[in-house]
Amino acid sequence: RHVAVLMGGFSSERQVSLWSGEECAGALERAGYRVTRVDVDRDIATTLRDLAPEVAFNALHGPYGEDGKIQGLLEFLEIPYTHSGVLASALAMDKQQAKRIAKAAGIPVAQERVMSRFDFTSAHPMPPPYVVKPVNEGSSFGVLIVDAGEPHPPQSLTASDWAFGERVMVERFIPGRELTCAVMGDVALGVTEILPQGEGFYDFNAKYVKGGSRHECPAKLKPNIYQKIQSLSLTAHQALGCRGISRSDFRYDDRFSEDGEIVWLEINTQPGMTSTSLVPELAAHAGHAFEEFLSWMVEDATC
Ligand code: DAL
Ligand code: MG
Repeated sequence: RHVAVLMGGFSSERQVSLWSGEECAGALERAGYRVTRVDVDRDIATTLRDLAPEVAFNALHGPYGEDGKIQGLLEFLEIPYTHSGVLASALAMDKQQAKRIAKAAGIPVAQERVMSRFDFTSAHPMPPPYVVKPVNEGSSFGVLIVDAGEPHPPQSLTASDWAFGERVMVERFIPGRELTCAVMGDVALGVTEILPQGEGFYDFNAKYVKGGSRHECPAKLKPNIYQKIQSLSLTAHQALGCRGISRSDFRYDDRFSEDGEIVWLEINTQPGMTSTSLVPELAAHAGHAFEEFLSWMVEDATC
């Protein structure tokens, strides 16, 4: 079967996508597929029409690749593709819409306000600590934490150049442990705890620089909490109408009570896909080798 691996693109996560795409392309070749690597540019429609692959493997991240736009093009061209469709992709990429749907499905989310950056003029939008994030970016691009006790306007905000758009989500900062859970079809694959190794939160460097973070896979949690994270992830996947694989990210604060507080942060419909990324690691834990896991995605593709 001929598979076109779509990678690169023009979001701020371009480099991450090239890493994901290259590893996926190699693994699919080892699994016996004929693979064409496609670095996505403005001529993608013509490229795909000429290539006429049987399946498009979507290894893109961020705007244009993860938000329903490329999915719409693939529908238009009638090329089956991996991962979520147009609507689920668009909803999941917009953190406000995704949280609205998750909340309606009974998933605990952090209190938030979506506002224009120009509204940040007079007072804190909520008592610090809080997090300010672009509504539609990945890999922690543009994420800022305003610490307790920071005066207004927060230094961290005025110093940033707001390269990631004018709509921001201001969200209550949830202290605690960073957990993530992968879903494959209608099964949760397990839970990983992420332990950033340096100062600060799970930012771009902690995510992609070697030694920046440690993964505890499977996470050491009480069985009822482990189960709860899995069932919330599956609920989020289904409530948003996701297809194939997804990854839900959580905060878990277990400092004050027996069962602690679980907060769902977001769902990623195009999670990182290098062989050492979180989702392939959880798939391996659940018994799916990288090649087999990717082959499942190709065979599951539709349009
Ligand atoms: N946005 C990155 C690729 C992730 O969620 O893994
Ligand atoms: Mg994300």
